[in-house]
Formats: sequence, C-alpha cells, structure tokens
Amino acid sequence: MNMHPDCERIMLTEDQLRARVREVAEKVDKDYDGKRPLVVGILKGSIIFYADFIRFLTMPVELDFMAVSSYGSGAVSSGKLNIKKDLDRDVKGRDVIIVEDIIDSGFTLANLKALLTERGAASVSIATLLNKAERREYGVAPDYNCFDIENEFVIGYGLDYNEQYRHLPYIGILKRSVYEK
Ligand code: IMP
Ligand code: MG
Repeated sequence: MNMHPDCERIMLTEDQLRARVREVAEKVDKDYDGKRPLVVGILKGSIIFYADFIRFLTMPVELDFMAVSSYGSGAVSSGKLNIKKDLDRDVKGRDVIIVEDIIDSGFTLANLKALLTERGAASVSIATLLNKAERREYGVAPDYNCFDIENEFVIGYGLDYNEQYRHLPYIGILKRSVYEK
C-alpha cells in the first residue's frame, strides 16, 4: 500500500485494525448481552473506528453522536472541553458506550463520562481505538481498548492533524517536520 508522504511510518495496518476491532467488539457484544445500549460516537475522530466497530455487534443498539473539542488545530491540548454538537437521545436510564478514537491526557473522556453520568445514564463505559497511557493526567481508563501506543502523534483511520489525513485507511505516525515547521 502507498504510504502518505507526511507519514514517518505505518503503525497499524488495515488488517491489524480490522482484526483487533473485531475482537474488542465481540467482547463488548458478550458483555452487553440482553441489553440495548446507546452507542455514542465522538465526532469526528471516531467515525471510521465507530463504523467498523458497530458492524461487529449483533445486539440491538441505538446510535448517537456528540462533537466536542479539547484541542485547537494543533498537536497540544488546550485544556477546555467544548460541546459543539450534543446528543439527540436522552441518556436517562440508558447503558451508554462512548466510542472514541484515542485517550491521551484523559481530559475529554473524564469530562464526558462525568457529564453523561450526571444526566442519569444507567451505566457509561468507554471504548477506545488507541490508548496513550503514558500521557494520562485525568483519572479515567477505557473499559475496552484496542491498542496501547507510545507517545507519538498519529493520523489516519479517523484521526487528524489540522483536519487532514482522517481518510487514510491505516494509522500512521505523522512526521515531526509537518507540525514543527
Ligand atoms: P485528551 O482529552 O487529552 O485525552 O485528548 C483526546 C483527543 O485528543 C482525541 O479525541 C484526539 O482528538 C486528540 N488527540 C490526542 N492524541 C492524538 C494523536 O496522536 N493524533 C490525533 N489526535 C490526537
Ligand atoms: Mg477527538
């Protein structure tokens, strides 16, 4: 496969992503047996993971989305969670699964989990594609995680830098020269 010239190297191939997402989704499917969870995708970074993940679920699910931002356009966290699009559905009494691309400092997911819990969700779990555990500053951990990764800035499979590269079908490490120039 052709690698984008702004990539240092491919970290996770399409095949590796598909196999692991399937494994994690099958575990979620078992754990929620008999339930009808609300699967909340966090826009926009989760879109490709979300689309792949839900297609491995066999239980009845309802889909909803939120858009939040904690990052500006750059590669460094700015520290304030901003709700840009809220859910359509009421989470009261619902089992909620938050689907997110990556957990970095944990700021976004710690705040989202607290918010949905405060709104009366019966349960809130977190499914992430990537986990940068070394970077954690907030007390939150994914209930389901596909890959633990090193502290590198990654793009593709939904993840962006400056709204670019989301469509790449693999996860790649962004060349430092792209964000350090
Ligand atoms: P947190 O709130 O610090 O955990 O940051 C989570 C958000 O930061 C993710 O939803 C991403 O949008 C963004 N982010 C963190 N690391 C990366 C990365 O390596 N590539 C692309 N986006 C990232
Ligand atoms: Mg994001």
